[in-house]
Amino acid sequence: MIIAIDGPSASGKSTTARCIAEILGFIHLDTGAMYRAVTLGLKNAGIATDDEKNVRLIIDKMEIQFDASNKILLNHVDVSSEIRTADISSRVSAVSALPFVREKLVKTQRLIAGENSCVLEGRDIGTVVFPNAEFKFFLIADIDVRARRRLIELEKMGESKTISDLIKDIVKRDELDSSRILSPLIQAKDAILIDTSNLTIKEQINKIINLINHNK
Ligand code: DC
Repeated sequence: MIIAIDGPSASGKSTTARCIAEILGFIHLDTGAMYRAVTLGLKNAGIATDDEKNVRLIIDKMEIQFDASNKILLNHVDVSSEIRTADISSRVSAVSALPFVREKLVKTQRLIAGENSCVLEGRDIGTVVFPNAEFKFFLIADIDVRARRRLIELEKMGESKTISDLIKDIVKRDELDSSRILSPLIQAKDAILIDTSNLTIKEQINKIINLINHNK
């Protein structure tokens, strides 16, 4: 069974997807982490996003995997913390708009999830990666709620930003992710919309689990 959870950044996808996968005993696949890992790989190699020839070369050689504890590995090194910095967040939309990056990662996502029951979270899971997913959810939340969630995440990593800067970052990323030509962030026609602005994590998880149990 495939469960697709899409939505903009900081809409509550990650925690929800992880907990739902745990409850159901499914694999959890964070596809945003994969785009972030590619972005980090390009940054570390000093290659600009618009240097198509070198981006292609390095991406062909890049290995993106998850270890047994679901930590993301870039060329066999755990990069799960490094990919969460504000710097990577500001670069990732441009990288994820590149057709050959999407091609490579979508192929990997279908391989990992195809043989297992899986909860996938991202931007294009219900529209492109698994359009026939049994369940599709599209999570949204108010911009100030999302900025506050991002602030808490960054503070845990020792980074600090103002709420107004975070709002600007999130709005910019939403615009880039929604306006790109290939696989833009968009709600699938058959996805259930869930506004998490006023829900606790427990409430949003229960809501989704109930919807799955009642419609299986
Ligand atoms: O969910 P996230 O913030 O970690 O995702 C990081 C970026 O990756 C996001 O700005 C857009 C991109 N992304 C994508 O294009 N397609 C996906 N399926 C998941 C993420």
